Amino acid sequence: MPEEMPDRATFDAVYRRSLEDPDAFWAEEARKLDWSRPSDQVLDWSPPFAKWFVGGELNACHLCVDRHLATPRKNKVAIYWEGETGETRVLSYATLHREVSRAASVLLNLGVGKGDVVALYMPMIPELPVLMLACARIGAIHTVVFSAFSASALADRVRETEARVVVTADAGVRRGKQVPLKPKADEAVAHAPSVEHVIVVRRGTADVAMQDGRDAWFADLLESADDSVPAVPVEATHPLFILYTSGTTGKPKGIVHATGGYMVYAHSTFQWAFDLDENSVYWCTADIGWVTGHTALVYGPLSHGATVVMYEGAPDYPDLGRWWEIIEKYGVTAFYTSPTAIRMFMQHGDEWPAKRDLTSLQILGTVGEPINPEAWHWYNRHIGGERCPIVDTWWQTETGSFMISGAPGIAPMPQKPGVAGHPLPGVDAAVVDENGKPVPDGEKGVLVIRKPWPGMLQTIHKDPDRYQMAYWSRFPGLFSADDYAVRDEDGYIRVLGRADEVLKVAGHRIGSLEIENGAVAHEAVAEAAAVGVPDAVKGEAIVVFAVLMDGYEPSDELGEEISGSISLSVGVFARPKSVHLVRALPKTRSGKIMRRVLRAVAGDEPIGDVSTLENEASVEEVKRAYEALKQEF
Ligand code: WTA
Repeated sequence: MPEEMPDRATFDAVYRRSLEDPDAFWAEEARKLDWSRPSDQVLDWSPPFAKWFVGGELNACHLCVDRHLATPRKNKVAIYWEGETGETRVLSYATLHREVSRAASVLLNLGVGKGDVVALYMPMIPELPVLMLACARIGAIHTVVFSAFSASALADRVRETEARVVVTADAGVRRGKQVPLKPKADEAVAHAPSVEHVIVVRRGTADVAMQDGRDAWFADLLESADDSVPAVPVEATHPLFILYTSGTTGKPKGIVHATGGYMVYAHSTFQWAFDLDENSVYWCTADIGWVTGHTALVYGPLSHGATVVMYEGAPDYPDLGRWWEIIEKYGVTAFYTSPTAIRMFMQHGDEWPAKRDLTSLQILGTVGEPINPEAWHWYNRHIGGERCPIVDTWWQTETGSFMISGAPGIAPMPQKPGVAGHPLPGVDAAVVDENGKPVPDGEKGVLVIRKPWPGMLQTIHKDPDRYQMAYWSRFPGLFSADDYAVRDEDGYIRVLGRADEVLKVAGHRIGSLEIENGAVAHEAVAEAAAVGVPDAVKGEAIVVFAVLMDGYEPSDELGEEISGSISLSVGVFARPKSVHLVRALPKTRSGKIMRRVLRAVAGDEPIGDVSTLENEASVEEVKRAYEALKQEF
């Protein structure tokens, strides 16, 4: 790692300019996109509501597809799709254009128009990005629901967005097996009266029940599709997508992103972090069901006309060599994954990556959770061959794209393992105390953003008050990211983890209360609390404490059933590591669950300094609660 800071000055100059005159800075960035009408105003800011590029008109699908057709990229590979069981599909920009047009035609033929919501509940197959872009093409708003979410989670999202169309697949493929999806979609749609049509993409082979008049195979609908549907320009403030994410209540938040601001921000930040050139082959391993897949697999790279690798399945299928084989096969130059994946591979030793030629790699990235230095060094050595910069990108569903990250696309800067880095241009980040005052460098505080940025969420779908409360009320005038962080003397920020009751399990964002609701849905459970405990691979693992109703006896089977109830309610990825049946949950006098007591007991740690532990409970009470629970544990 370089000791000196050769390019710090270059970076600082850009950063300073971006904060001194954000309007000019973002206007210049916006000019890198195609606009059918330029904006009249860069930012209309009536806190906490921002409208970016007011008066401007553009189309996100045009930016990601059509505009490349007039260039030599026309026949360049847009997407290399690698199926888990060995099949591949290759889409050039020209073929992507045709597929997207035809998919848009299918939607139009079903009566979908501008502003209508289409829910995409799909596995990692090319039709997923194709349908996202098809929605964008006609001004429809997509809401992608991660395919491992349960039917009830899908139903909530479809109901709330009043989606008229749900697109799903007969099944997904995971570890060589077909995982049925359509039955889950059916169950959800039964509870979502807004849905008029269900489109089913064929991925598996099993028989599927189709409801007459409502359901149709995508392939059948494509037969009468038109391949010259134009991309219609929409206002910059028109929503591009709604993506649900967990907060501290049991009800996920529908994060709304607007076309103009999101596209400008995704386009610029993607280039800064990944420093793409015309020969880049870029692979983001995230599922498109999360924001990482939206920005870093679809809108960011395709807006640059990059070649994207999309992999369908599990990282270790058929063996732990699969990912490294894919990198070698496609000559991946930029690779973006999660610390959980890195730790998983690290645990299994160096021999798997060592079997493959990874010298095509030029840049690596991580996202979703803090990366521990040990995993960083392993990634650097065994994947990057100590040649590749690693960008540790900190961001959120709410921020649209990267906020704090290395920026080799602007200037290479020294790296600090485990530290995300400097805020990117336009990002006025600070670490503050409870009163919103910056803490001294080196001290822990809460991460906030002090100025609006183009990628910021517009609002929470149908709930502007919640938007204001959730993000702007803790520190008036500041966007609260609800992460703990420390800033160092170089202005780099180390992100420590969530400051709220949201868990990060294998990088997936899950609200404690959603898990608890899933547990309480079991008839035997009177009350439950879920906490995260440190996990060597997943970062955090879920531990649930449950109090049983009178008349039920604790047993291992009951614990299993409660786990099952959580999977059914949230999704299999939220299945707890363990469920403990206890007599009572430790609570303060006003009834607030003492989560730190639960975390300490579950993680088998001492309760430590309790003086600042729970505002509402005395030190003695906390200690007593801890000891009592520990004995039961
Ligand atoms: C965490 C994922 C440390 C953080 C893009 C944030 C990170 C939450 C990093 C958002 C990182 C994301 N280092 N922590 N590089 N990136 N996080 O909405 O806690 O799924 O608040 O978006 O992930 O999760 P989300």
